Amino acid sequence: MIKPIRKAILPVAGLGTRFLPATKAVPKEMLTIVDRPIIQYVVDEARAAGIEHIVFVTGRNKHVIEDHFDIAYELEDTLKSRNKSAALELLEKNRPLPGSTSFTRQQAPLGLGHAIWCARDIIGDEPFAILLPDVIIKSQTSCLKQMVDLYNNEGGNVIAVEEVPEDQTHQYGIVELSDQINSNASRISNMVEKPEPGTAPSNLMITGRYILQPEIFDLLSKQSTGAGGEIQLTDSMLTLMKEQSFSSLTFKGRSYDCGNKAGFLSANIAFGMDDPKLAEELVPFMREMIDQPLAAE
Ligand code: G1P
Repeated sequence: MIKPIRKAILPVAGLGTRFLPATKAVPKEMLTIVDRPIIQYVVDEARAAGIEHIVFVTGRNKHVIEDHFDIAYELEDTLKSRNKSAALELLEKNRPLPGSTSFTRQQAPLGLGHAIWCARDIIGDEPFAILLPDVIIKSQTSCLKQMVDLYNNEGGNVIAVEEVPEDQTHQYGIVELSDQINSNASRISNMVEKPEPGTAPSNLMITGRYILQPEIFDLLSKQSTGAGGEIQLTDSMLTLMKEQSFSSLTFKGRSYDCGNKAGFLSANIAFGMDDPKLAEELVPFMREMIDQPLAAE
């Protein structure tokens, strides 16, 4: 029997050193894309896929994430007394149901695999999703929903993948495929975390969206350190692959790696262009920047 995917883990313990000083007092997940923090896009993607409970694996200085998904009593009371119903509705729409979030801390930065393992008790003995909040995905249908649809047919484990230029493969987890399942999905036969340049088995990177079976937790508890001296999720998935099927999904949509500045700025432009009023101002400005960058100063 294929068990439903009800819970998702969002690891948010990272320090965000690439965005200092912006991330000195503000978690990187709270940096904004247009008018919403990055983390809100990822939570929305999970909820659009039918996820009922989100487990945030946090660290020190991340409590504003908890506040963001709670009622802001003073603010909401003031909005109510001023009849600001649109703003109130917006806050309500973005707020998860009471009791549908959990927060647990990764006490030391030992790697993604360790962060996921920290959520083991809250997930329990059922398959679950992982969404890495560095990556946001712009798509018609939530990327995780596309993965859940594949999972509901295939069972096992599912990983979202996309092509990456050859000279960037060493920055990601890379998968190798075998049999095709359909035009967008295949079986995975191998995977390697951050392969040395020139040694990657393909140019298909792991995008940061996973559906995994709970047996991964036992493997993570015994996992020795891998790439970068960290406990890597990819290494435990490779072990699990000896016993369970792993499918890849080439999702419909575009990912933005907000863990780097170019990806973060691109996401702001891409999501900003969705708002016709913003697009009206942005397009002439971008033309000016390209044609006459100095004149824009
Ligand atoms: C993690 C994963 C890697 C994946 C990447 C996607 O790496 O370990 O397999 O390709 O996220 O962003 P990190 O970016 O945490 O180094």
